[in-house]
Amino acid sequence: MKSLVLVLCLAQLWGCHSAPHGPGLGYRELNCDDPETEQAALAAVDYLNSNLLQGYKHTLNQIDKVKVWPRRPTGEVFEMEIDTLETTCYALDPTPAANCSVRKLEQHAVEGDCDFHVLKQDGQFSVLSAKCDSSPDSAEDVRKVCPDCPLLAPLNDTRVVHAVEAALAAFNNRNNGSYYQLVEVSRAQLVPLPVSTYVEFAVAATDCVAKEVIDPANCNLLAEKQYGFCKSTLTQKVGGEDVAVTCTVFPTQPVLPDGTNGPSPMVASAAPASPPAAAVMVGPLVVAAPPPVHRAHYDLRHAFTGVASVESASGEAFHVGKAPMVAQPGVAVAAGPVVRPCPGRIRHFKI
Ligand SMILES: *[C@@H]1O[C@H](CO)[C@@H](O)[C@H](O)[C@H]1NC(C)=O
Ligand SMILES: *[C@@H]1O[C@H](CO)[C@@H](O)[C@H](O)[C@H]1NC(C)=O
Ligand SMILES: *[C@@H]1O[C@H](CO)[C@@H](O)[C@H](O)[C@H]1NC(C)=O
Repeated sequence: MKSLVLVLCLAQLWGCHSAPHGPGLGYRELNCDDPETEQAALAAVDYLNSNLLQGYKHTLNQIDKVKVWPRRPTGEVFEMEIDTLETTCYALDPTPAANCSVRKLEQHAVEGDCDFHVLKQDGQFSVLSAKCDSSPDSAEDVRKVCPDCPLLAPLNDTRVVHAVEAALAAFNNRNNGSYYQLVEVSRAQLVPLPVSTYVEFAVAATDCVAKEVIDPANCNLLAEKQYGFCKSTLTQKVGGEDVAVTCTVFPTQPVLPDGTNGPSPMVASAAPASPPAAAVMVGPLVVAAPPPVHRAHYDLRHAFTGVASVESASGEAFHVGKAPMVAQPGVAVAAGPVVRPCPGRIRHFKI
């Protein structure tokens, strides 16, 4: 009799503990390929792209993880990890990222890795916090698909610097309008055959006339920013070199009454709370300085420097007690076929 009572008690205890197995986690699980997850991820990638001042726009490649937390008083927060891939559109190119092509493996692809908190409220998604970094594919991987493809070269390589100077001079030489200044070198490759240097770089119009410039140091960026993006190949020839350059000049960015350019991403970094050590003034434009390494690409970890972050404020708001994820014996047995809802599908390729 005694043992029966004990067994009953145990059963009841078991019942008490196993009943709230779903809500007990504190968050809602969602399939990484659920349309709602994808909407949140697309809002996150839009946010990333609209905050980019350098490098290239990114596109969603894969959703790795998602947890949906209830938020007081209303709404839900999607805590997610996503992988992105670099596109061929420059950061300040007004082309929507959806229309930009993904950088191919042969061109030395770059992958982004991001953690986002995205709030969904009244059917609208907004980003609460964002943290990203990015890295180019490994040399071995590029060689696997294409043994002869040129790898990304350090942007401060003397051949790269020279190719950019020559290309900018060539562009300004045949330019009847403004003198264009270098904004950043965004990508470079040293091509073995024929021996040449391929570069991509961004420029901005100044108040000088290209044909009349004596000292470019005296030229100032226009208040109404006009950016351009150039691609150039400098080929070594017997007795000299040959420069082929094409630049696309983007529409001007209107000046708002407060003196800033909007709705351009420039606004975001115009006033960092405390001037980060890695910010240099280039005319009225704040550009994050390249990190002190001979980098070959723009690392997304610098994308949110100077962007007002609500990360600290949001941290406590929706983490309603992190319940430990204990396995539920008995539940798993009855669950039927194993579902692996995450990570989700790969949209392009994995590097
Ligand atoms: C983007 O692509 C859509 C659909 O293909 C097209 O209608 C639109 O004109 C494109 N926009 C730009 C800026 O290229
Ligand atoms: C610059 O001016 C020359 C001579 O007037 C003209 O042939 C050329 O097309 C102009 N270039 C541009 C980019 O407008
Ligand atoms: C590129 O930058 C790195 C780090 O600042 C430096 O060590 C290296 O010498 C530089 N290379 C050239 C070619 O200037």
